[in-house]
Amino acid sequence: MASAPVITIDGPSGSGKGAVCAVIAERLGFALLDSGALYRVLGIAVHKAGVDLANHQAVAKLAGEMAIEFGRNGPDSVQLNGEDVSLAIRTDLGSDMASRVGAIPAARQALHERQLAFRQPPGLVADGRDMGTVVFPDAQLKIYLTASVEARAQRRYKQLIGKGIDAILPDLLRDLKERDARDSQRPVSPLKPAEDAILLDTTDMTLENVIARVMEFVQQRLPQVASQ
Ligand code: C5P
Repeated sequence: MASAPVITIDGPSGSGKGAVCAVIAERLGFALLDSGALYRVLGIAVHKAGVDLANHQAVAKLAGEMAIEFGRNGPDSVQLNGEDVSLAIRTDLGSDMASRVGAIPAARQALHERQLAFRQPPGLVADGRDMGTVVFPDAQLKIYLTASVEARAQRRYKQLIGKGIDAILPDLLRDLKERDARDSQRPVSPLKPAEDAILLDTTDMTLENVIARVMEFVQQRLPQVASQ
């Protein structure tokens, strides 16, 4: 049986992937894999359990054993072993821990199988760093979203202020640069576009523009899906 179709959307933090993926999945009636959330949950699980990040074996064991449930209390909700961690995973600690556990090869391997399980009919939109390069190399459509680091920091700033959370733009810019460096320089699954990915620079695009552009690609590559 042929596998369900997959659309991968990879790129750095603040490139707009999350929002784009959610809308595209909704429009197509596809499942959504927010792989960053899996890394974030693992980061929080490691932190809570007091596991030493240098103990790769223990981190990988946690990655294989933790119970994760998405969507129980609304679309963005995440449970870790029955506890709501929806807010905890979005904190600075959650971001930092995610990128640290993401640099551990055995942890990536343990999360790999979990990610493959999201591929179900009628299809999947997968959001991450290595969706097109490593996890779903046979995806029907691969998109790599980029934007200047300044534009990405600005977006994060507006998002936080909009939520009533204090934010300092230069700090956000510094954190993003650090995370970009760690994500793109790690030896396993570094952040980089797949050779067959379509590159889209969203620096001067609105979210609506990006969504419209991605839907055009869907129409070209997956006409049977887009017309339903
Ligand atoms: O996408 P998001 O910002 O939620 O990802 C958080 C972190 O998780 C990233 O900075 C990256 O280090 C890690 N990650 C990863 N591989 C993925 C998704 C996220 O290494 N596929």
